[in-house]
Amino acid sequence: MSVTQEVNAAPDPVDRFHHDTIDNIIAGRFACRDFSDRAVSRGTIEEILRVARFAPSGANIQPWHVHVLAGAVKTRVSAALLKAHREARGEHVSEYKYYAAELPKPYFGRRREFGALFYGSLGIAQEDMEARASQTARNYLFFGAPVGLIVTIDRRLEIGSWLDLGMFVQNVMLAAAGRGLQSCPQETFAKYHRILRPLLSIPKEQMVVCGVSIGFAKSAPEGRLMPRAGVEEFASFVGFE
Ligand SMILES: Cc1cc2nc3c(=O)[nH]c(=O)nc-3n(C[C@H](O)[C@H](O)[C@H](O)COP(=O)(O)O)c2cc1C
Repeated sequence: MSVTQEVNAAPDPVDRFHHDTIDNIIAGRFACRDFSDRAVSRGTIEEILRVARFAPSGANIQPWHVHVLAGAVKTRVSAALLKAHREARGEHVSEYKYYAAELPKPYFGRRREFGALFYGSLGIAQEDMEARASQTARNYLFFGAPVGLIVTIDRRLEIGSWLDLGMFVQNVMLAAAGRGLQSCPQETFAKYHRILRPLLSIPKEQMVVCGVSIGFAKSAPEGRLMPRAGVEEFASFVGFE
């Protein structure tokens, strides 16, 4: 049985970390929230972006833009965001809505499960708002990663281009994983667009969509923290024998 067949046959293929097939790269990626300080070169990030740009996009308009942050600039950005998070987080809102105000089933249940698994894994009680805010603050340090991306899109584009952007961001994370790097996509950066804009000279027509931390994971997880619904829950097959 080939590795790909094995991965497809396994009920949960996510415990394999051989980065030798696209399936293993996809299943081995996880939202990493604890990076080592091992450096990642500009050349590696350029390589990742060079391959990620082959993401498809409607009419090939390629609506992505990334600001790649490292070193002193990243430290400055982190400090400014941490200050805002500590002192004035209520004053900052994203320019777009990520979550529906009322999540219908089954999404509501999945979000609740996420909270229980995520905070449970960190030993944080769900109602401990102080501890949760401290965990959120770690986002702005890019969870210790040496490289952070701030991803933006032209606000004059429509929702279809956001599909394209998602594919590009996923390509970035997969290209990183293929090189033994991990990543974390982070919508929480969108909240602080007013701070990011002047610091990174983001033109006013660009909207901050998310950040992505990239680096080497401090340690390999023992298994996948976040489960996935079975294929039968989200796919409807028709016309097969
Ligand atoms: C667009 C997007 C935004 C996200 N924003 C955050 C974030 O701000 N902070 C964070 O810690 N994780 C964030 N995540 C990570 C998700 O929580 C994570 O992908 C999900 O729980 C599934 O876990 P996995 O990626 O490890 O499989 C985000 C994921 C996506 C796709």
